[in-house]
Amino acid sequence: MPLVTLRQALDAARAGGYGLGAFNVSDVIQAEAVLDAAEETDSPVIIETLAGTSSHGSDERYWSVLQHVISTYPSVPVVLHLDHGPNPETCRRAVDSGFTSVMIDGSLDHDGRPSSFEANVAVTAGVVEFAHAAGVSVEGELGTIGGSKVDGSRAEIVLAEPSQAKEFVERTGVDALAVAIGTSHGAYKFTTPVDGSVLHLDLIREIAEIVPGTHLVMHGSSSLPAELRAQNNAFGATMPESWGVPDEEKVRSITMGVRKINQGMDNHLAFTGAVREFLGTDGLTVDPAPYLDLGRVAMQQMVAARMRLFGQAGRAGDLRGVTAAHAGASA
Ligand code: 13P
Repeated sequence: MPLVTLRQALDAARAGGYGLGAFNVSDVIQAEAVLDAAEETDSPVIIETLAGTSSHGSDERYWSVLQHVISTYPSVPVVLHLDHGPNPETCRRAVDSGFTSVMIDGSLDHDGRPSSFEANVAVTAGVVEFAHAAGVSVEGELGTIGGSKVDGSRAEIVLAEPSQAKEFVERTGVDALAVAIGTSHGAYKFTTPVDGSVLHLDLIREIAEIVPGTHLVMHGSSSLPAELRAQNNAFGATMPESWGVPDEEKVRSITMGVRKINQGMDNHLAFTGAVREFLGTDGLTVDPAPYLDLGRVAMQQMVAARMRLFGQAGRAGDLRGVTAAHAGASA
C-alpha cells in the first residue's frame, strides 16, 4: 500500500475513535518489527525516525532503505514521519526524500532552551508552507516536552498553554500538535509510579476543544515496563528504576483527544533486552543475524500489544484506497 500522510491517517483515527502509535525506529530491522506488528494486527501505522541517529552512513541512505522496506509490506498503510525535526533544512531534506509527514520542533532555541512563542510560530509556519506545497503533513510543538538523561536529570518541561493553542494553529496551519502535558522523553522518566494525578490530561481535553481540527500528539509515552528493565539489567545493563506512562493513562488520553502516541524507548528496551540476553548466554556466536532476529521479534511483540491497546488493530481497511499526493518525493 502506498504511503499515506499523517493528516489522512489521523483523520481516519478520529473518525474511528482510536489512537495511532508512532513508533520510533533507528534501524531498518526495527522498522521491520513495526511493519510485522502492523501486518499481524491489521493496523495502519506511523513509523517515525529522528535525523542523524541511525547507524547507517547517512540519513538519505537510511531513509531510502526504509522506504524500500516499507514498500515490501503492500497491505500496511504507513505514515513515514520525521520526529523532532530540529530546523527547516532537516525537514526539507525529509520532504525531498519522500517522507509524508514531518515534525518541526520549534519549541527549543539553538541552545536547547525553550524558545519564544513568536519564534516557534515563525519557524513552524515556514515549514508548513513548503511541506504542504509538497503534500506533506506537519506536526508542531506547544510547550516543551522534557527529556531525561542517563544520569537521571531532566531537561525543563514547560506545560502547553491552552490560550496559545488557537493562535498557534491559526498562524501555522499545522496538522498535528504535540502538547507538553508533563511527560518526558527517554528511558528515565518518573521516580515514582504514575497515577491519574501526575499527567495533565486535563490540558488535552481543554486544547482539543480549542483546536478541534488539529490532531493532538502525546510524546514521551513509553511505559518503561519493569520486566524489560529487569531483563536488560540481568544481562549487563545498569538501568536505575524508573516509571513511564501506564497503559491506562494512554487509553484515557485517547478518549480525551490524543490521536498520535509516540513510543521509542519501549521499542528499544524490548529489542536490546533480547539482544543482551542472547549475548549474555551465548559465548560462541559471532554472526549478528541470530540476535538481531531475536531483537526484531521481541520488538514486534511489544509493538503489536500496543497497537491492540490503542485500538488501531483491525483498522488498516480505513485507509485502503487512500494515497498521499506527495509532490516532493524523489524516492
Ligand atoms: P519515549 O521516549 O517515551 O519513548 O517517547 C518517544 C517520543 O516521544 C519521540 O518523540
